[in-house]
Amino acid sequence: MTLSRRWFLKGATLVPFVASLPLTTGCADDDAPATVFVHGVASGDPTPTALIIWTRVSTAPAGAAVDVVWELSTDDFATIAATGTVSTDAARDYTVKVDVTGLTPGARYGYRFTALGETSATGAARLPPDGALERLRLGVCSCASLAHGYFHAYRALAAQELDAVVHLGDYIYEYGSGEYGETRAYEPAHEIVTLADYRTRYAQYRRDADLQAVHAAHAFIVVWDDHEVADNSWQGGAVNHQPETEGAFADRKAAALQAYREWMPIRDSADGHVYRKLAFGDLVELFMLDTRLLGRDVQSDVGGPPLEDPARTLLGAAQEAWLATELPASTATWRLIGQQVMMGQLPQFVNPDAWDGYPAARARFFDLIEQHAIPDVVVLTGDIHSSWAMDLTRDPTDAAAYDPATGRGALAVELVTPAIASPGLPESFAPTIAERLAENRHLKWVEVSRRGFLVLDVDRARVHGTFHHLDDAHLIVPEPTDLAVAAEVEVRRGTPRLIKL
Ligand SMILES: [Fe+2]
Repeated sequence: MTLSRRWFLKGATLVPFVASLPLTTGCADDDAPATVFVHGVASGDPTPTALIIWTRVSTAPAGAAVDVVWELSTDDFATIAATGTVSTDAARDYTVKVDVTGLTPGARYGYRFTALGETSATGAARLPPDGALERLRLGVCSCASLAHGYFHAYRALAAQELDAVVHLGDYIYEYGSGEYGETRAYEPAHEIVTLADYRTRYAQYRRDADLQAVHAAHAFIVVWDDHEVADNSWQGGAVNHQPETEGAFADRKAAALQAYREWMPIRDSADGHVYRKLAFGDLVELFMLDTRLLGRDVQSDVGGPPLEDPARTLLGAAQEAWLATELPASTATWRLIGQQVMMGQLPQFVNPDAWDGYPAARARFFDLIEQHAIPDVVVLTGDIHSSWAMDLTRDPTDAAAYDPATGRGALAVELVTPAIASPGLPESFAPTIAERLAENRHLKWVEVSRRGFLVLDVDRARVHGTFHHLDDAHLIVPEPTDLAVAAEVEVRRGTPRLIKL
């Protein structure tokens, strides 16, 4: 979502988000040498025995198919653990995506590609073990508006010791240059609508050295949010889609998702859905949900039925049924749920694009947890360019039913990751917001303007979250910079209560 356009604070006046940054043309990586693998390497969706590996042949002869050799190794390519050859061509934008199987559980692999006489950079990824696992460390991130600044947060995430990165969407933004952020210009310069447009935008992102670094360092587990197609999308349209001038939404969505599948290291499903689960030993099951494009009904503020309509859905029937089967069946110590929009209530805000806009769907999710007594659920969220840690309970204002001091009446907890580069609310609003949010007993920590990412340290006893934030002054300058720890929170096994440390 785009906060400046869509959110408002009841009883307060938000000034429009004024873009005051100078427009600079070109990107820091414009001087990248013309090699075969200009767009780097990536990996994703690790299982105990399989890994998606990705690259793109960037200088293929026009019209010709190209053979690409891939290799995996556990000893810096002294020996080759797995290898093969695949062909790519213009039909898939010369991207290469291989689901390598038969690998060794728990191993850390290097991977690389060779084509047209050149060898790519080497990426690395760790596979989860098959059985017992005592510790897991995940990066969590979302919302990378390239136009708003530089991807220092990705560079810092690359330097973290992680088992994988969970990316909750808004990996790209669809706007034209200067429409939403003015630090870096977009390719193409116009809002992206066609397949060629979306491919060009992914290609620009993947020439960013910081984004290449984080992909090379860690396997990604990705899901789309709205801006992979258009702002505030739902299954049949988007606020930022005008059929009169941009054609049928179904065509745009199909083009956007084709480019997504070509460019992202995600395991493809037969029917194109992206909800799925991944296991990290017996410690964590990660459920990735699509609250955006598969089954979402239109938002109530742009023509949809009223909020209270019990039939309104965010996941759609098929995905809800899948979750209702899979979540109670989980035997892992922890259940992490990677999804897009804020699940916790914010009575002082109006955000019809989040779970607050689909209260019946949220109630069904709470029913599922309550009826099956599903313990130790942590919801992970992106979308809103700010950092939140909260308990999930049916009604945080009901003092009889929910006690924030003990977690009585809470069903799960939610952690919202800040944006990599997209803008939160202006810092000047922080005192007002803090004051209003103090009324919300389920909120344990909030920061509404800084960019950064979240790191989760998981063991048998707790999930520990560390929010890393970027100093705003560094966002618009290309020189590398470190991020600082802004807050640490924890949820302990058996008690769905977030603790601010
Ligand atoms: Fe976003």
